[in-house]
Amino acid sequence: MSLDQNLNKILIIDFGSQFTQLIARRVRELGVFSEIVSHKKIKLIDINHSIKGIVLSGGPLNVYQINKYSFDKKILQVDVPVLGICFGHQILSKLSGGRVKQSKHREFGVANVYKKNNSLLTTNFFGNKKFKQVWMSHADQVSKLPKNFKVVASSTNSKFAIVENKIKKYYGVQFHPEVTHTENGKKLISNFIFLICKIKRNWSSKDQKNQLINDVRKQVGNNKVICALSGGVDSSVVAQLLNKAIGKKLYCIFVNTGLLRKNEEIQVVQTFKKRLKINLIYVNAEKEFLKKLKNVSDPEKKRKIIGNLFIKIFERYAKKIKNVKFLAQGTLYPDLIESKSVTGSQTSKIKSHHNVGGLPKKMNLKLVEPLKFLFKDEVRKLGLELNLSKEIISRHPFPGPGLAIRIPGIITNEKIKILKEADYYFIQNLKNNGLYHKIWQAYAALLPVKTVGVMGDNRTYEYLCLLRAITSEDGMTADYYEFKKSFMQSISNKIVNSIRGINRVVYDVTSKPPSTIELE
Ligand code: XMP
Repeated sequence: MSLDQNLNKILIIDFGSQFTQLIARRVRELGVFSEIVSHKKIKLIDINHSIKGIVLSGGPLNVYQINKYSFDKKILQVDVPVLGICFGHQILSKLSGGRVKQSKHREFGVANVYKKNNSLLTTNFFGNKKFKQVWMSHADQVSKLPKNFKVVASSTNSKFAIVENKIKKYYGVQFHPEVTHTENGKKLISNFIFLICKIKRNWSSKDQKNQLINDVRKQVGNNKVICALSGGVDSSVVAQLLNKAIGKKLYCIFVNTGLLRKNEEIQVVQTFKKRLKINLIYVNAEKEFLKKLKNVSDPEKKRKIIGNLFIKIFERYAKKIKNVKFLAQGTLYPDLIESKSVTGSQTSKIKSHHNVGGLPKKMNLKLVEPLKFLFKDEVRKLGLELNLSKEIISRHPFPGPGLAIRIPGIITNEKIKILKEADYYFIQNLKNNGLYHKIWQAYAALLPVKTVGVMGDNRTYEYLCLLRAITSEDGMTADYYEFKKSFMQSISNKIVNSIRGINRVVYDVTSKPPSTIELE
């Protein structure tokens, strides 16, 4: 379960709250390692000396559904401080002998909590004020405090909004300190981990780097490792981490599918082979991909063809390197945390959209997944610590099937060439206008329609270029970015004037949902 039995941590027991990951992030932002485990998975035996504090998350359950939360309450008898948040607060109170009932007034959204008593948990939380704005989301509430608990703060509708049992070091908050709508919420979490759990900081990018390098060395020993390098953030960080850990025993394979962005293959070779001196095998498979994709227009078929061919080519080159035992992958923490956490069905799944997902079974390789405990922002910071350039680290995401899913319909060499140019113009202009980092993802696509235009005195009949630029947190939902008219005008002029084959530019203003970010 753990990254390292000796790495002190805050254990977050998940009861299915949509904010559980946020709790883990807040703790880590404060410089302390945290780990999430489902309430159905955690056993008393897992509570070892490295766990310095336990957070019970919120969740959609209620404390009366005894069968639905088969949580081993003996865990609470271990001498470790506990912070219960929302449902976690209710279950902590219930299991300690208190009472929980349905609230007369449900509280959703912003509320004020008023200070009643001092507590280590609220040190410098209220500041000069007697109250603080917090974010509530609950239908039940604690109605009777257990023995030895006292009220620290109350809201209008929740008398026991913050409570403590100083002897046991049990703390409960009815609201969500992990969300930004709770004023000074991070202070509460900080007080819990530093003043109450007395844990020391152990989670900076530098700590992670050293720890992960050691872990990789321990795991792979003297064996060879292969890694599919795409040039994206995750695979780049994995490659550089392994390069630092095992040097020439790492073999990176970079497949040029011909569906990459303009000059991408040159940049990857320059960065990884020339600058970082990584063992890089460059495979130019442009022709092979184009041949397989000839006359294919169905999006799912395209994806399958690209994925399968990628694996075939990767295998072909990997086999040339004798005695490979491991495959390195850029699996991240959110990929590991189950989506339906309340069911407790946590499985260590390989990213399903990852291009090399089929490899380990066939080649009988063991997985090295050094980033599997990190969030994306931590991966980015680690990348900088590993000496990767900001340009690589803060690049927009790029899908595995590449430009193929940005050319709806049949793909031809001519279309790829046109699209590469248009995309390049768009992205360069975003960068030149200081917009690139304000946007989560942007790209140009080439639509399979030709329209009439007029240039000079001549009629043109050329393709339609679609531009998409979105803001998002994680790619799950997205909104279109609102450009100024002057920018839109200038980019559309530049594309139409400079790229033969495009005579019209449109901007996609749909959000996700109902649309997706990519076109196919
Ligand atoms: P959608 O189009 O599903 O995209 O809204 C969400 C995010 O995922 C990326 N994406 C992919 N990434 N292989 C990948 O590695 C894929 O097949 C794939 N399809 C979509 C997309 O670029 C966006 O960031």
